[in-house]
Amino acid sequence: MEPRGPPLHRPRTPPLAKKLFIKTYGCQMNVYDSERMTDLLAPIGYAVADRPEAADLVILNTCHIREKASEKVYSELGRLRRLKDQRRTKGGNLTLAVAGCVAQADGAEMRRRAPYVDIVMGPQAYHRLPEYVARAERAAAGPAGQAGVGILDTEFPVESKFDHLPAPTRQAAVSTFVSIQEGCDKFCTFCVVPYTRGAEFSRPLQQIVDETRRRVDNGAREVTLLGQNVNAYHGAALDGDANLAELIDALADIDGLARIRYTTSHPRDMDADLIAAHGSCAKLMPFLHLPVQSGSDRILAAMNRQHTAADYHRIVGALRDARPDLALSSDFIVGYPGETDADFEATLDLVRTTVFAQAYSFKYSARPGTPAAALQDQVPEAAKDERLQALQALLNEQQRAASQAIVGRTTEVLLERPGRHQGQLVGRTMWNQPVQANLPPSYQGSLAKLHIDACAANSLDASLPDTTDMRACA
Ligand code: SAH
Ligand code: SF4
Ligand code: F3S
Repeated sequence: MEPRGPPLHRPRTPPLAKKLFIKTYGCQMNVYDSERMTDLLAPIGYAVADRPEAADLVILNTCHIREKASEKVYSELGRLRRLKDQRRTKGGNLTLAVAGCVAQADGAEMRRRAPYVDIVMGPQAYHRLPEYVARAERAAAGPAGQAGVGILDTEFPVESKFDHLPAPTRQAAVSTFVSIQEGCDKFCTFCVVPYTRGAEFSRPLQQIVDETRRRVDNGAREVTLLGQNVNAYHGAALDGDANLAELIDALADIDGLARIRYTTSHPRDMDADLIAAHGSCAKLMPFLHLPVQSGSDRILAAMNRQHTAADYHRIVGALRDARPDLALSSDFIVGYPGETDADFEATLDLVRTTVFAQAYSFKYSARPGTPAAALQDQVPEAAKDERLQALQALLNEQQRAASQAIVGRTTEVLLERPGRHQGQLVGRTMWNQPVQANLPPSYQGSLAKLHIDACAANSLDASLPDTTDMRACA
């Protein structure tokens, strides 16, 4: 045997451990995007830090949907500026990046208001993050005193970011998100999304199946398919475009994947195939977030929602025919310009007749550049407050009733992660209600039949059923 010579290649020195902190605002699509940014930055040496003070790079992944959401970003940036200054005085550096929908909508303005931010990039450009971070690091190592590197990318690139994201390799959460569709072409008159996320675009079916399968291999049991208008999905497949029902069908074949959900849907795109899937696909959970915004036909038309209250009732009726135990959730806006007491009453009527298990409601917030912001008849703040209170009282009552209805029953819960207290796991029922239970850690990631003992403030208390219950549910 020949004597061993020196290795031909010296082992590569591992990249220096650097730390990354991402603060995420807004919707679940931003949560997904933040995870993908983490995946993108791992190969250039970034590991996750638990607070900005421990990080070399801080990214704010922002939301522009309401004024409050946007303003939060600027106050957070003020704090980070002080942290960056402190680092500099000690000869160190903190790279600051703003991603997401405020970056997209406000990019140039942000360069003026917060010139110390190094990277400003929109939601469709973040696959270029490693290149931008490397540039910012090089600039920081150069002559001192530079305010910010000044990278601004708010293009809607022709290439899809999804074609440039690394395959997920980290341990997946038990309940994971996969974005399947981006942007929106609906142009509701109050909404910034078509401007911040761009034109509607669907990922190819196989790309989604592959990503979901990988996440299942890495520990996921539930997937929530994401898009701002997810039921408009029409991704390329082998035999032409696939709709959301066909995608759900393909995903249901993945062994080990127990639950499928999707959010958020527009009533206009709730087609017959998708409604039927709620009756035929056992892995599709009996829960649907179907925003309606208002119960007044006049306001729905002014919002450009392209459906009436009667259409909404008809769709909900068909869904409940397909899946009688379907739990519904929705979004509401009160105080849209020109909304009268009678319009608001129509919203309360729609809530009373539909019955929601969960809901989100907001005061209308005028967003720059949207058609509704230019309308003259803005509703006074006091009237918006009053309407929001009345609506939330009704919605809370319905939500409590929905939770109360399963107390005393034994039902399947997917146990997702440890709870806040020692020995506790938290999970969700099929109907998306949060559950907490004292169980050994080995239950994490499993579907367990649990007895729902009580309805607490924000979740249900559950426990393993005693043997009598076990027999009852077998
Ligand atoms: N794509 C979803 C909603 C996306 S935004 C849909 O079509 O319904 C999430 C929610 O934020 C909306 O449903 C709406 O209720 C609320 N929202 C959007 N713009 C708003 C605004 N300008 N003021 C108040 N709430 C708003
Ligand atoms: Fe915004 Fe949803 Fe309307 Fe699209 S469908 S414009 S995301 S509210
Ligand atoms: Fe907000 Fe953008 Fe999502 S505006 S709600 S982060 S798509």
